[in-house]
Amino acid sequence: MAIERTLSIIKPDATRRNLTGQINAHFEEAGLRIVAQRRLKLTPEQAKGFYAVHSERAFFNDLCEFMCSGPVVVQVLEGEGAVAKNREVMGATNPANADEGTIRKAFGESIEANSVHGSDSAENAAIEIGFFFSQCDIVG
Ligand code: RTP
Ligand code: MG
Repeated sequence: MAIERTLSIIKPDATRRNLTGQINAHFEEAGLRIVAQRRLKLTPEQAKGFYAVHSERAFFNDLCEFMCSGPVVVQVLEGEGAVAKNREVMGATNPANADEGTIRKAFGESIEANSVHGSDSAENAAIEIGFFFSQCDIVG
């Protein structure tokens, strides 16, 4: 499988509990390399722009509010099949359904406060990485 890059976000529920390092350890243990990383607080405009694909969903406003409720850590993960591998490491959207050993099983609080975001396709990964990072921010 090819070397890919994917966008990851450590969400406000996780930064609030000081879990950045523990979550990063899951990525690194799975063979994913953190090739760019920045901590920031999303503005409502940024959150709405990032989650525009979900704008018609019932949970959209709550999700945007939650994503602005504290700092997030945005990061680019690189590795073999990184998009799918990261989704595996994250676990199911609802932590109650997530497999043992996944980040959401270990740390997720609820279907919304589920600790991490990960791109769901290579195409979306490229768009999402471009939302936060320029080429020279990413050092592979
Ligand atoms: P993500 O985009 O964050 O990696 O998560 P995902 O693909 O597993 O889930 P997605 O369907 O894309 O939903 C995006 C995020 O919206 C919140 N959510 N809330 N209240 C709800 O029913 C609900 N459903 C989803 C979660 O924070 C989810 O990760
Ligand atoms: Mg998603």
